[in-house]
Amino acid sequence: MSAAIISGTEIAGAIREELRERVALLGERDGLVPGLATVLVGDDPASHSYVRMKNRAARAAGIHSRQITLPGSTPEAELLGLLDGLNADPAIHGILVQLPLPDQIRDQVVLDRVLPGKDVDGFHPVNVGRLATGAPDVLAPCTPAGVIQMLLRSGVDPSGRHAVIVGRSNIVGKPMASLLMRKAPGGNATVTVAHSRTPDLGAVTRLGEILIVAIGRPGTVTGEMVRPGATVIDVGTNRVEDATRERGYRITGDVVFDEVREVAGAISPVPGGVGPMTIAMLLSNTVDAAVRLHADGGRD
Ligand code: GUN
Repeated sequence: MSAAIISGTEIAGAIREELRERVALLGERDGLVPGLATVLVGDDPASHSYVRMKNRAARAAGIHSRQITLPGSTPEAELLGLLDGLNADPAIHGILVQLPLPDQIRDQVVLDRVLPGKDVDGFHPVNVGRLATGAPDVLAPCTPAGVIQMLLRSGVDPSGRHAVIVGRSNIVGKPMASLLMRKAPGGNATVTVAHSRTPDLGAVTRLGEILIVAIGRPGTVTGEMVRPGATVIDVGTNRVEDATRERGYRITGDVVFDEVREVAGAISPVPGGVGPMTIAMLLSNTVDAAVRLHADGGRD
């Protein structure tokens, strides 16, 4: 039997609508307009497209959004100075620096400079540490936070289940494990993390009642690697050449969808799965950050 499809597009749409209502209420009741600043350095076309989508979604939710685009030659010190200004700006509650950054700029130095209370990517070491130690009100990285929402909103509570994650990146794999392990709604799972050096990957992935694949390699998970009835979330967003498309490529996940859908109980597609959720969670983090900063009188 073919698996149920977990539509990130639909779930993200519902979350964005909830946020739009919440933002309208914050404006009426508290005079608070959440503000998001996105910072883009260089001219990578994929990054430009992501940032444009993030800004458009923010505006549609009633969030004030400011996009700052800097040339690829920008010195690190100039970017740090810009971040200091945004940290001090009371109209901005969320700051996102799009990665990757050009070679002359050190990613970690930049991520360390964003005020933790405005770190809507959840990449600052203080937020990484808060998440790992189970703090309840943490700004969690958007992609794994989106995966938790996809599971909960499609009726799959990770509590007590064995979740297998394939991939150990700082953006997805590691925070995904922290979220699934923590003592909180959407957590309480038994978690295994596999990665590119795991021998006999299929023996590990077949243990997963929930299988989350975020390794960045198309075709990594085939049908025989999946436990029958499992819930499979494909985080992969890979560009593969496709001469039949006008733009010359198509986006594909890490999972062999047509095989796995015949084994899994539920599966998220690519595109239309995790991608839209990442944007919805960015908006959610921005609204949460605004509410907390407002309540704290701007202190972190
Ligand atoms: N580049 C790829 N994914 C991300 C993300 O989640 N946040 C930022 N800032 N850059 C990215």
